[in-house]
Amino acid sequence: MATKKLFIRTFGCQMNVHDSEQLEELLKVAGYARAESAKDADLVIVNTCSIRDKAEQKVYSQLGRYRHLKKSKPHLQIGVCGCVAQQHGERLLEKAPFLDLVIGTHNLDRLPECIARARQTGRPVVETAFRETVPSIGIPTLPAEGSVSAFVTIMQGCDNYCAFCVVPYLRGREESRGFEDILAEVNALAARGVKEVTLLGQNVNAYGKSFGGKHSFAQLLRAIGAVPGIGRIRFTTSHPKDLSDDIIACFREMKNLCESIHLPVQSGSDEILARMNRRYTSADYLDRVRRLREASPEIAITSDIIVGFPGETEQDYQKTLDLMEKVRFDTVFSFRYSERQGTAAVGLGGKVDPGEKRRRLIELQALQDRHTQEKHDSLVGRTVEVLVDGTSRNTDRDVTGRTRSNKIVNFAGGRDLIGRTVRVRIVAAFLHSLRGEMLEGEGGFPGCSSR
Ligand code: 5AD
Ligand code: SF4
Repeated sequence: MATKKLFIRTFGCQMNVHDSEQLEELLKVAGYARAESAKDADLVIVNTCSIRDKAEQKVYSQLGRYRHLKKSKPHLQIGVCGCVAQQHGERLLEKAPFLDLVIGTHNLDRLPECIARARQTGRPVVETAFRETVPSIGIPTLPAEGSVSAFVTIMQGCDNYCAFCVVPYLRGREESRGFEDILAEVNALAARGVKEVTLLGQNVNAYGKSFGGKHSFAQLLRAIGAVPGIGRIRFTTSHPKDLSDDIIACFREMKNLCESIHLPVQSGSDEILARMNRRYTSADYLDRVRRLREASPEIAITSDIIVGFPGETEQDYQKTLDLMEKVRFDTVFSFRYSERQGTAAVGLGGKVDPGEKRRRLIELQALQDRHTQEKHDSLVGRTVEVLVDGTSRNTDRDVTGRTRSNKIVNFAGGRDLIGRTVRVRIVAAFLHSLRGEMLEGEGGFPGCSSR
């Protein structure tokens, strides 16, 4: 029998990207191979995000396109997985009656069985129940032969209930994955030649809390740091309130923990932070930044910021800009507040006018662009360590890679450099990348155990 073909379209964050990798792995076992496009597929999965209204709307436009495809290809099965599926469940079938599958965040492991059920019965299958534990957390994924980097899920769900955020309602309670299970996966990745792992979770700093603190995140980092072959470790996302001194010490002491942290601040105003239920003040945040830089002077700090949260006055907003001036982030992902059904912020007064939100966002992004460009300019003339992860999108005479601080560097070089760590002198700085020249005599050295 010919192999069935699968196409996955992913929206949203790195967690979702990795969930899609896990789905692909599961479906490989069930006899599916990857299709180049939805047109060539027997099964299309849309892995969805509903963190903001815009993300959700993108999902609906995509589904509109697949509806047309199904008209010309009636045997095609179409499924929606992830957050939008979790949020709307059965109701999604009213909007999109052509769907065969609606699979929520806790039931991804059931996808193969659901596909078969939908085929047999000719009726859509909806699975959105929350479960005590989430089996898909541990689906190991082996990246394609030759992959340099891999994601590893270490926890899922979130117990923080930030007032703007829908994640705790859609991904459920915080659950950490077993310590040994994670280490086994990292060892398997290293054996396959992976050099860099990124540990994933909504709030990785709280790792281990759900099983009584027997293992902390810092312990996990140190254990992964001892796996031979893993030259670079990254993690995302961190909550400032859970960034302990123990974790900060890892940046000082671990050679293979990259000098980069994503630490969402959301706002620089204490009133707004309290209304957001973030449980830290701007002073607490600045203190964490100071300690991080004390431990690791070169550390790149990136953040998420929301403008126009209910009640945010011009003064509150100015405090966010002040905080940005004090911290000088490497990059900021900034968003207009988007009201999400079911969250605490829905009930808050002081809604900010959409035009005002737009103005604040544009101004804030312009400030951040200046800071990012300044950071990049300061690297010109310096030599950095780059892990090469592919050829350039624009020309096959160039390769591309990332510095330890997670900045993209392009430079002249051949495919043989992929997977190698080389020293590169930065010669030009742009807003989204750097241009470099590989140092003479750098044939590249495998792994990256030295700084
Ligand atoms: N509106 C705008 N931005 C949001 N984020 C989460 N929920 C919302 C919302 N309702 C942002 C936060 C978070 C990032 C992943 O998305 O900044 O850190
Ligand atoms: Fe959402 Fe807050 Fe949890 Fe992050 S920590 S996922 S922003 S509730």
